[in-house]
Amino acid sequence: MRCIKMNSTYTKLIQNLEYLKLKQMVVHLDGTIDFMTNNQLSFTEALIKLTDYEIDMKEKNMVNSMVKVGGFPHFKEIKDFDFEFQPTINKQQILDFTTLRFIELKENIVFLGSSGVGKTHLATSIGIAAAKKRTSTYFIKCHDLIMNLKKAKLENRLENRLKHYAKYKLLLIDEIGYLPIDAEDAKLFFQLIDMRYERNSTILTTNANFKNWGDIFQDPKIANAILDRVLHHATVINIIGPSYRLKGHFEKEKDSMEHNGGIKA
Ligand SMILES: Nc1ncnc2c1ncn2[C@@H]1O[C@H](COP(=O)(O)OP(=O)(O)OP(=O)(O)O)[C@@H](O)[C@H]1O
Ligand SMILES: [Mg+2]
Repeated sequence: MRCIKMNSTYTKLIQNLEYLKLKQMVVHLDGTIDFMTNNQLSFTEALIKLTDYEIDMKEKNMVNSMVKVGGFPHFKEIKDFDFEFQPTINKQQILDFTTLRFIELKENIVFLGSSGVGKTHLATSIGIAAAKKRTSTYFIKCHDLIMNLKKAKLENRLENRLKHYAKYKLLLIDEIGYLPIDAEDAKLFFQLIDMRYERNSTILTTNANFKNWGDIFQDPKIANAILDRVLHHATVINIIGPSYRLKGHFEKEKDSMEHNGGIKA
C-alpha cells in the first residue's frame, strides 16, 4: 500500500476526489484498493464498491435532514413503544401504517384518547418512518398551526401559507381540542383541511370525542365540515387505557399496597 500512496497517480486521484468533495471515496480508497487486489475485482466492480460508500453517506444525510426538518417533538419510534402497556392498540395496524400505504391512498389517521396514552408518540413514530423514506412530512401542534395561519392572514399571505401546509405528503396536527379555537380561526383550519382533502394524508391527535368538536371549533357547521373531510378516508385509533406518564405512580401505588398487605397506605 505504501508504494501506491507514494505514487503520483494515487496523489492525483486523492486530489480529484477531494476537489469533487467525494469524502467517503477518499476515506475508503485504500481499503477498496486492498479489497480489489485480494479479491481480484475488476476496475468497474471496485469503482461500484467505492461509489457505494459515497452514495450510502449521501442517503444517510438526506434521511437525517428529512427527519430534522419534520419538526418532530422527539425522535421516538415504534420500537420504543410498549404495546403491552396499551392492549387496546392493535400493534399490527400501527406497523402497517409504517409501510406508508395510507399515504399512497391519501388516507388520514386520527389518534383519539385521553392524556398520556401515546397519541403523540405513535403519530411521531409514523411521521419519522415517513421522513426516513423521504416523504415530505411536517409535525405541528394545532394551536401553533392556527396561530401561523392567523398571522399570515393579517399579513395578506394566507394563500401562500395554506399552500405551504397543504403540500406536505404527510402533515401531523397534534393536540386538537386542547385549546379553544374561535369560529374565525376554525375557518382557517377548515380551509387547510379542505385543501388537503383527498390530495395528501393528515394524522391528527385529539383528546376530544368527535361529538364535542362543535364546541371546540365554536361553530358546529364548520366542525362538521372539517370532520366530514377528515373522516371520509380515515382510520380512527381510539386508545382506551391508562396514561403512560402516570405508569411509575401506579406501580409505586401497587407496590405499596402489596407491601401493606393490600391496604392502601
Ligand atoms: N405505550 C407506551 N410505551 C412507551 N412509551 C409511551 C407509551 N405511551 C406513552 N409513552 C410515552 O409517554 C409520554 C406521553 O405520551 P404521549 O405524548 O404520546 O401522550 P399523548 O396521548 O399524546 O398525551 P396528551 O394528550 O397529553 O398529549 C411520552 O414520553 C411517550 O413517549
Ligand atoms: Mg400528545
